[in-house]
Amino acid sequence: MQFLKVTPQAEPNIALIELNRPKELNALNLQLMGELRDTLKALDQDPEVRVIILTGNARAFAAGADIKEMAGRTAVDMLNIDQFSTWDQIKKTKKPIIAAVSGFALGGGCELAMTCDMIVASETAQFGQPEIKIGTMPGAGGTQRLTRSVGKQWAMEMVLTGQFMSAEKAYQAGLVNKVVPVELYLSEAFKLARQVAAMSPISVQLAKESVLQAFNLTLNEGLLFERKNFYLTFASEDQKEGMQAFVEKRTPNFKGK
Ligand code: HXC
Repeated sequence: MQFLKVTPQAEPNIALIELNRPKELNALNLQLMGELRDTLKALDQDPEVRVIILTGNARAFAAGADIKEMAGRTAVDMLNIDQFSTWDQIKKTKKPIIAAVSGFALGGGCELAMTCDMIVASETAQFGQPEIKIGTMPGAGGTQRLTRSVGKQWAMEMVLTGQFMSAEKAYQAGLVNKVVPVELYLSEAFKLARQVAAMSPISVQLAKESVLQAFNLTLNEGLLFERKNFYLTFASEDQKEGMQAFVEKRTPNFKGK
């Protein structure tokens, strides 16, 4: 990997992916995004991995798509390069992904964080969709996911003016799960990951899939979708183990079966 550091077992059942293009503030060029797609696909298939943490470094999660790589392209180039098939693949990851964000999460960087399932932010994190300032607009979900997270007014202001949102404001607006001092953002992400990794990976996968359907389906369709996944958990040994452990007043040992 040229632009990623991947540690499949950073802790038992927890994989860590670090974006590693620090001089360019982790600008997301096509090579990096391809590596990320391939890595997530491999980790999704690795039975030892239950949760994935995606991070950058203290200065930048990612400052957006690589402007220098994009600058001269035509619309037809963009169409032919079809970078969003990579993003579509990332979106299909079944295991939960926690973004641990410090510093800049801008443009495609903000969109990448929002494509993850939860966000732990450092107090220094800044979220933004500044594409408008360079004559374009969000293209990897910014107008949709940001609006769903923070509501129309904030999304409109950020997308139309390029103004950044601080970590504290992002927390108040519902964009991030936690805000902690910069020296703690990664350890806090691991804390959250450990909690999820202790659950049945089958339930986790089905529950993640169900929550995401809340954005695609009507309420009635979503309720039906949820119900089928709920029933499906009863086909797992983990459901028997979880309920038996409750009855026996002990901690369940989930095996993903
Ligand atoms: C390419 C980038 C970059 C980017 C930073 N760099 N962001 N290179 N693409 N998105 C490079 C700079 O050119 C510079 O390289 C080095 O990283 C350090 O950045 P500086 O600007 O010197 O740092 P600073 O003054 O601290 O300013 C930080 C910043 C600024 C506020 C984050 O870099 C910035 O505004 N970046 C662009 C943010 C942006 O517009 N993002 C949206 C991109 S469009 P050199 O070689 O000069 O030292 C997008 C569309 C997504 O994301 C569509 C779907 C994929």
